[in-house]
Amino acid sequence: MKKLLPGLFFILFSLSLSADPLSPVPGLIPKPWKVKVNQGNYQFPVNGVISYNGAEAAPVAGMMADFLKERFLCTGEVRKSGKIRKGINLVVDPAVEKDAYKLEVTSGGVLIKGSPSGLFYGMQTLIQLMPAVKGAPVLLPQISIEDKPRFGYRGAMLDVGRYFFTVDEVKRFIDQMAFYKLNIFHFHLTEDGGWRVEIRKYPKLTGIGAWRRGTQTSRQPDGFDKLPHGGFYTQDELRELVAYAQQRHITIVPEIDMPGHTMSALAAYPEYSCTGGPFKVLEMWGIQKDILCAGNEATFDFVEDILDELLDIFPSPIIHVGGDEAPKERWSKCPKCQERIRKEGLKDEHELQSYFIGRISRYLEQKGRKLLGWDEILEGGLAPNAMVMSWRGEKGGIEAARQKHEVVMVPSSFLYLDYYQGKPDGEPFNIGGNLPLEKVYHYEPYSAQMTPEEHKYIVGVQGNIWMEFIHSVPKIDYMGFPRLCALAETAWSPEGKDYKDFTTRLSSNLLWLEQKSVNFRIPEPYGLKDTETSEEEITVQLEPPVQGSVIYYTLDGEDPLLTGEKYAKPLVIKPGDSPVTLKCVVRTPKGRVSGTYSAKYTRKQK
Ligand code: ACM
Ligand code: ZN
Repeated sequence: MKKLLPGLFFILFSLSLSADPLSPVPGLIPKPWKVKVNQGNYQFPVNGVISYNGAEAAPVAGMMADFLKERFLCTGEVRKSGKIRKGINLVVDPAVEKDAYKLEVTSGGVLIKGSPSGLFYGMQTLIQLMPAVKGAPVLLPQISIEDKPRFGYRGAMLDVGRYFFTVDEVKRFIDQMAFYKLNIFHFHLTEDGGWRVEIRKYPKLTGIGAWRRGTQTSRQPDGFDKLPHGGFYTQDELRELVAYAQQRHITIVPEIDMPGHTMSALAAYPEYSCTGGPFKVLEMWGIQKDILCAGNEATFDFVEDILDELLDIFPSPIIHVGGDEAPKERWSKCPKCQERIRKEGLKDEHELQSYFIGRISRYLEQKGRKLLGWDEILEGGLAPNAMVMSWRGEKGGIEAARQKHEVVMVPSSFLYLDYYQGKPDGEPFNIGGNLPLEKVYHYEPYSAQMTPEEHKYIVGVQGNIWMEFIHSVPKIDYMGFPRLCALAETAWSPEGKDYKDFTTRLSSNLLWLEQKSVNFRIPEPYGLKDTETSEEEITVQLEPPVQGSVIYYTLDGEDPLLTGEKYAKPLVIKPGDSPVTLKCVVRTPKGRVSGTYSAKYTRKQK
């Protein structure tokens, strides 16, 4: 069968998948620390029992039962029991360190033992061992796993300040994070383009600051959609979200960005700027000259009042206060700011920024919380105990670790998931950059420029999804996945990377995201790359990036979606005087089709 017959293929592949649900390599992501695959399988019966040993294990038992019912129509009861029984056993063991677990699947059933959070992670692993086909028999490989995270901070960020997403949309993202054992959701709640958190003392923050007249959709001068956009979360909604995340062992770290990126706040309360305004909530993104006035005492009252309400909503021990991209132009001309510099004996506006952040850090410390800020908070001196999020490369993170401050590594060139992940002409419009899956995968947070002693201050890593040009849930999915799978592996799995091993596991793991209707970016077939050769012919072997997917290709420059042949065996390509372009698309088992990917094969001139 040469040409693409979408309907038929869809049916054929669905059948072949349900006939053979067990992958030869368990598609576990992130990779556990120790895995031993044993001979044979275990089938959890439709009426199989879930046993748990005490109150701390009960929530996981309930979630496990709900999942088995929803996915596999299981009807078995959930039972508190002091003994190990047939079926699935969930045992909280106080001796096991936080987040760690052991999982055994034998011919008699499943045993997961761990701390309460470890049990939750063990459940995610168990789910990933199940067939990613709804309603299939719950067939598991017999296996023995010991697992724990490498880092305590395993983060992902959504920039709802620039583009608003609903509570349900955020919950869906939190579910995906939990599936990959990520545990910190960094909620970027305020931006020049929108204020998203209800603050009861300052109702105009959301009354005015949450709404704007349009959104930038391209880099053209007229690239605005002129559609009103906005939204915010009530405090009740945020409390519900905090509880939802907590059930999934995820801490929400809220961010109120200051003193810059505050145009939405200043549109509502221009009296806290240096010039008095007026301002509007911005439709375009960028760096703004107008920021909070650091000379005005009332600004600090304003910020502290906001933080009081924020701390009441979010129990997180870490509170992010931004600190990034705050130009000093206004401060340098503002009499109040200059007076503050004089009175406090500060050298310049950078030290004024340090004064600002230091004051907020002390305020948070009094309330038992720790300040986290972007690496600009190093400029003019780091506040005692502040945590640093290193985004402009690793330099800030390295410097902070030398000063014995905790660091989250988020270098933009490796972990900014708004960057392109393939050749831009085949991708949806994005902000720029070039960050393919493999580059995210290979990110190593323990910089070789640091000593082992300094490495101890690296608490983890995070992937950032900035919304400048991400305005829909399918696009969040597309930018986030599978790059967050790679990030999860850096955050959780032991050191030592093997991309081939990762992509083999990923190819079956992606079937889960497909089942969950996540619009992940279908990776290029492995083996597709621009090549120069001095040989007359070159053999190109392609691996499908999703288990059960099919590759269609052309070698004549035509659109593979229309005239592509099904890839069945390695291709012999003969670049003569002119190069040959291999174009291809990938069709997944559920019938999703990738973008068109290509590689050029060129004969090297002698
Ligand atoms: C940032 O990307 N401005 C932290
Ligand atoms: Zn000022």
